[in-house]
Amino acid sequence: MNLVLVGFMGTGKTEVSKEVAERVGMRYLSIDKMIEEREGMNINDIFKEKGEEYFREVERDIVKEVSCMDSVVIDAGGGVVLNNENIENLKSSGVVICLKARPEVILHRMRNKTDRPLLNVRDKLTEINEVLDSRRFCYDKIEKSIDTSDLTIDEVAEQVRVIFKSLIG
Ligand code: S3P
Repeated sequence: MNLVLVGFMGTGKTEVSKEVAERVGMRYLSIDKMIEEREGMNINDIFKEKGEEYFREVERDIVKEVSCMDSVVIDAGGGVVLNNENIENLKSSGVVICLKARPEVILHRMRNKTDRPLLNVRDKLTEINEVLDSRRFCYDKIEKSIDTSDLTIDEVAEQVRVIFKSLIG
């Protein structure tokens, strides 16, 4: 059984996955890091030089690969849920939990970040709202979710751990 965290950028997936991985004694894996390693360049450069569509293809291949692994905590990029095949693959590999947060909280958490090509725009809040609105139906397909807006990483990690343990029996 794997544990998979999905959700919009800035909802806490990376920090929470690392923390939960330690608590449950499972290996942490980042799909974004695997994409960067495979392509030998960072995500900004992949988007710039090869385009988002190419990025999504590599992402889909890596989702397939990690879905065949066992006992890993998977930190999935914010756009993984855009593709139904990705959701199905991840669900078949274990427990999928969606982290959520209010747009203002996302903006605050992302204020100094320059490594998200989709948010490298002047008006970040408008962009966050627009992308979130267009994707909401995808995130809402995941039955288990946690709003991380007013919680610490420790608190979210504990909630994730409890859900995971209750579902794997
Ligand atoms: C993306 C989210 C990013 C990364 C890429 C695209 C998205 O991951 O995969 O910049 O489409 O939402 P994080 O959610 O880990 O920031």
